[in-house]
Amino acid sequence: MSAEYLQELFGLDGQTAVVIGGAGVLGGALCRGLVRAGAHVIVADLTEESCAARVAELEKLGGKAGSCTVDVTSRESLENLLAATLKQTGRADILVNCAGVNFGSPFLEHPEEQWDRVMAINLKAVFQACQVFARHMVEAGGGAILNIGSVTSHLPLSRVFAYSASKAGVLNLTRNIAQEFGAKGVRVNAICPGFFPAEQNRRLLDQERIDNIMHGTPMQRFGEPEELVGAMLLLLSPVAGSFITGTHVNVDGGFTAAWF
Ligand SMILES: NC(=O)c1ccc[n+]([C@@H]2O[C@H](COP(=O)([O-])OP(=O)(O)OC[C@H]3O[C@@H](n4cnc5c(N)ncnc54)[C@H](O)[C@@H]3O)[C@@H](O)[C@H]2O)c1
Repeated sequence: MSAEYLQELFGLDGQTAVVIGGAGVLGGALCRGLVRAGAHVIVADLTEESCAARVAELEKLGGKAGSCTVDVTSRESLENLLAATLKQTGRADILVNCAGVNFGSPFLEHPEEQWDRVMAINLKAVFQACQVFARHMVEAGGGAILNIGSVTSHLPLSRVFAYSASKAGVLNLTRNIAQEFGAKGVRVNAICPGFFPAEQNRRLLDQERIDNIMHGTPMQRFGEPEELVGAMLLLLSPVAGSFITGTHVNVDGGFTAAWF
């Protein structure tokens, strides 16, 4: 395949992509993929230091990048992120919702405040960010949103009650918003990652659970963050993904397929 044809299908030159959670492990890989595809990336995360470190990494790759701190639990903060993005680049074509937190415990010990925290960051924030950015995208004539679900969007994994419920919600919300904006040029899709060797997993999983995951994953390994990039570019590209909305791609080594 020629480089020109690849560029035509997947290139994002001239587009601005906001990656919320861009300082995190998976968000970092998505940011790297986006700048390599030509997008100007705005890294959005909780602290200036973590955003600045990611921006420095992206610039080292030759990419165009800026940043803005955000707390996704605040609508005002999300409005500020959109305004800062428009100020820095003049546009906001792509939104990636990749912030997330997890918490695991036996059901009867699951604290209510952890339920509220996980729901606020993983689900309500996606609703709010989609509202803020989709409004702009409709006015601007189009755009694309990518929400990050999980295998728990499909399967209730033990001990992560709020997390599983929030990620099931993210997938349904994705489909629902896509219906609303289909005719208005805003496409909304999700990626449902399987198990990646990120900090969250190291905290949550003991060796027995890791062994169980390997057993349940046909490809018998964790994912590497960079393995999310291909699915992301397909779903976000206005050419390769032009007729794709309201759906998801599982990037999980076959975990979901093997469960059913
Ligand atoms: N790592 C995995 O195996 C895995 C699997 C499936 C889904 N996911 C999902 O992928 C996404 C990224 O996960 P990750 O593994 O990179 O985790 P991570 O902890 O490395 O990254 C999450 C990022 O979200 C940011 N964040 C948390 N609360 C925030 C808030 N209130 N406002 C703004 N930013 C906030 C954190 O600062 C962090 O940079 C999450 O939605 C997670 O649920 C991860």
